[in-house]
Amino acid sequence: MNAAARPALDLKVPDYVKNPRLVAWVADMVALCKPAAIHWCDGSQAEYDRLCQQLVDSGTFRKLNPVKRPNSYLAWSDPSDVARVEDRTYICSQKKEDAGPTNNWMDPAQMRATLQPLFDGCMAGRTLYVVPFSMGPLGSHIAHIGVELSDSPYVAVNMRIMTRMGKAVYDVLGTEGTFVPCVHTVGAPLQAGQKDVAWPCNPTKYIVHYPETREIWSYGSGYGGNALLGKKCFALRIASNMGRDQGWLAEHMLILGVTSPEGKKYHIAAAFPSACGKTNFSMLVPPKGFEGWKVTTIGDDIAWIKPHADGKLYAINPEAGYFGVAPGTNHHTNPNCMASLDKNVIFTNVALTDDGDVWWEGMEKDTGVMPDHLIDWQGKDWTPAKAKETGAKAAHPNARFTVAATNNPALDQQWDDANGVAIDAFIFGGRRSTTVPLVTEARNWTEGVYMAATMGSETTAAAAGQQGVVRRDPFAMLPFMGYNMSDYFQHWLELGQKLQSSGATLPKIYTTNWFLKGDDGKFIWPGYGENMRVLKWIIDRIEGKAKGQDNVFGVSPAYAELNWTGLSFSAELFAKVTHIDKAAWQAELKLHDELFTQLAYHLPAELTQAKSALAQRLDA
Ligand code: OXD
Ligand code: MN
Repeated sequence: MNAAARPALDLKVPDYVKNPRLVAWVADMVALCKPAAIHWCDGSQAEYDRLCQQLVDSGTFRKLNPVKRPNSYLAWSDPSDVARVEDRTYICSQKKEDAGPTNNWMDPAQMRATLQPLFDGCMAGRTLYVVPFSMGPLGSHIAHIGVELSDSPYVAVNMRIMTRMGKAVYDVLGTEGTFVPCVHTVGAPLQAGQKDVAWPCNPTKYIVHYPETREIWSYGSGYGGNALLGKKCFALRIASNMGRDQGWLAEHMLILGVTSPEGKKYHIAAAFPSACGKTNFSMLVPPKGFEGWKVTTIGDDIAWIKPHADGKLYAINPEAGYFGVAPGTNHHTNPNCMASLDKNVIFTNVALTDDGDVWWEGMEKDTGVMPDHLIDWQGKDWTPAKAKETGAKAAHPNARFTVAATNNPALDQQWDDANGVAIDAFIFGGRRSTTVPLVTEARNWTEGVYMAATMGSETTAAAAGQQGVVRRDPFAMLPFMGYNMSDYFQHWLELGQKLQSSGATLPKIYTTNWFLKGDDGKFIWPGYGENMRVLKWIIDRIEGKAKGQDNVFGVSPAYAELNWTGLSFSAELFAKVTHIDKAAWQAELKLHDELFTQLAYHLPAELTQAKSALAQRLDA
């Protein structure tokens, strides 16, 4: 039967869906995408279990050994669909300048014309899932609602973990409420009788945002941020536009709580590029020497931050789960995360053990041995001998786990607080083998914005493309910025000025680098839990208890200002990780120049002035 002759699909709108705009949009999308069936997700456990079983039956999921990993599943993606696709990600604002030079742009009318034939009939033979979700605690004044229409049941079950998903969202939405419409297809329509594959996707991919109309259209990928549209597409690219228009911030930041032995609590928001240890830092276990200190997780990836009448910035984690990088995670690097992964997890692209459990590179540090045999993420036999010979990884370097925040033993009591938590300090940290010292405090808001704006980092497997190349990643937002980067710098500067002129004390701003390497190519700083030593110095600075020492960029710690109990780290090594190499920084400033040339349109004058002042201090 051709599409024109096919009877219109009965939308079967549940009686609890009362928003006419939503129903009309779903009807339009059904007419365009032509699914075989429609499923309105209610977000219940029974529905989750049913969809997971369906994914097992269709070969996308494998149920893991219920004794070792209760209620958990493993998916292996198509080898061509393993990461975010930055070169296929578009910000389609009306004007090219509004997307800015760091984003791919296409005229919205042209993009709509490009997508129309791709979406026409794209869901044939598949079920369209209507996935209502709240980014942030349901009903919070900081939260916003989205609805994703997807032909991927894998997306539906992941969204149930990653967001507050289900029926209750319709109550918040009511009849008049607004939502961000998100359409997602794997781009693999099925002809009548055609057998499906385990991971349908399309070599052509488009991850498209229309910032003015606040829409998201994603075509061709089933993986991570390309497909779970609440995360990068909504919570960062679209929300950054909302934040600019409404006076708040959508940031690629973890949020953690630190409680001192005296019971005083601080909240830190920290931006790091993808796969640079945000989940580890947000779940940090204080090391020896920090008895009585507690670190708790509010979020591991994204923060929405709004100014409050008391002059403070309050942050929520818009997500409800973690979509974290598995390789490298073990009981040494992140014990809280390992405990979170005990049950109720969806793993993607990790290896399968012979007893039906999961494995990834880094787990050998816990057991002391490599497994004798595994099935790797591509379904092939893997042995340590083969790995030695060919370098084959058992898990893909961007293999992930999806797990609810409530699994985390270090979850902060306020993680779901509708009012958010007041931020005391911001940290911006890149991955740099050289040049950038362990920690520096900005002397003021403008210098902090300068530090964040000029941050460089080595690329990781979280995005498709070359790895290990240093690129400028302003605010760790390069792949996630929904508008012109220079306007975003201006937004940060203006927010700071506004708060300051109302008499508020602004959060302090720091830059960190855990990733410096010695001549032997090994990391010098031990990182992970030991980062608590830096965190404590930051708190001492907030409390006015550490004097610090001035350098050309800002303020850095003296050796004696860090608590070294339980760690042997000499003053010589500390000098290495805090050293500022003038020649290296003069070269680095040339890269700042390049960035500022690229971002010249609307670049705030304060930042060029901050650069000149820095250059002068370096030359002095
Ligand atoms: C992520 C990323 O998945 O930053 O969080 O790529
Ligand atoms: Mn991220």
